[in-house]
Amino acid sequence: MTQRYSIGLIGARGHTGRELLKLIDKHPNLDLIFAASRELAGKDVNEIAPAPDGLKFENSTPAALAYHNPDICILALPNGASQPFVEVFSEASPKTILIDLSADHRFDPAWAYGLPELYIGSQSLKGAHRIANPGCYATAAQLAIYPCLQHLASPPSVFGVSGYSGAGTNPSPKNDVERLSGNLMPYAPVGHIHEREISHHLGHDVRFTPHVHPAFSGILVTVHMAFKTPLSVEKMRTLYDKTYANHDLVAVQTEIPELRDATGIPGAIIGGFSISEDGLHGVAFAAEDNLLKGAAVQAIQNINLALHLDVLSGIKRA
Ligand SMILES: NC(=O)c1ccc[n+]([C@@H]2O[C@H](COP(=O)([O-])OP(=O)(O)OC[C@H]3O[C@@H](n4cnc5c(N)ncnc54)[C@H](OP(=O)(O)O)[C@@H]3O)[C@@H](O)[C@H]2O)c1
Repeated sequence: MTQRYSIGLIGARGHTGRELLKLIDKHPNLDLIFAASRELAGKDVNEIAPAPDGLKFENSTPAALAYHNPDICILALPNGASQPFVEVFSEASPKTILIDLSADHRFDPAWAYGLPELYIGSQSLKGAHRIANPGCYATAAQLAIYPCLQHLASPPSVFGVSGYSGAGTNPSPKNDVERLSGNLMPYAPVGHIHEREISHHLGHDVRFTPHVHPAFSGILVTVHMAFKTPLSVEKMRTLYDKTYANHDLVAVQTEIPELRDATGIPGAIIGGFSISEDGLHGVAFAAEDNLLKGAAVQAIQNINLALHLDVLSGIKRA
């Protein structure tokens, strides 16, 4: 008989929340028992996404939600909003596995960092109880840099472009469709939180500049790397092939991936490996959907691992 687990979702109205509702609905082992949104409280959940009949959005009140005592609870909240929920669940529902999509616990050693293709050996996600889901740009950039890590002579430079859903639903210039029309908007030229996240988890400094483009979703990163000793394109390609050989959600290809290639698919595409004549300067590109591999799909991978299920359970293979 299929083992079943109860799951709750807080922040269900948001961009990542809606993707999570769809993924939970088709997951063979998960039963959604609550979805929380302050704005939609009282409305049917399946008005915005597939959900069990009759399930209504609940208000985001930590004590009332912890009372459900779910096996898993996902926090899909803006940065800085998770703490009241973590505190109350830790006290009132201590067995619940918490997955935080925000940056609040990505630097906290008490939380496993959930980028399953890279750090599964060093910070075991299997059976983890507290999991910090990586940032969207941070996922693409780490996937693109990690295979070359031992060869780096200096901090890689990452040029990142994301669709405006990366900025959440709270109105800002970065999700203002009118302002973005026909536009590309650079921001946070130094010190972006994903720059710190990538540097922290790779154990190597990076430089990162994000940009927002006018489409709803999709991320493309272009990574420039200086190498200690010359590499060929073939050698570089081999590093990526070896790293991702057993990871179905990361495709490695010769061609440069374009942003639209990865929009709407669960995994990431890395390719376009290029090397300067002297072999000391290499470039790689990575594309992913910020809401999927950059957020919701990765959260489901992490839940699967925490529950000792197949890492791709409930996720369509790429
Ligand atoms: N969007 C992406 O591409 C992406 C990728 C990776 C990671 N992330 C991270 O994932 C998290 C969610 O992102 P998102 O894009 O889904 O954000 P979003 O669209 O703005 O949604 C956030 C949700 O949280 C709820 N909320 C906001 N403040 C709250 C509070 N103080 N207490 C309780 N609920 C609150 C809102 O619903 P109500 O107002 O109805 O309660 C809303 O549904 C963020 O931390 C983000 O950085 C996002």
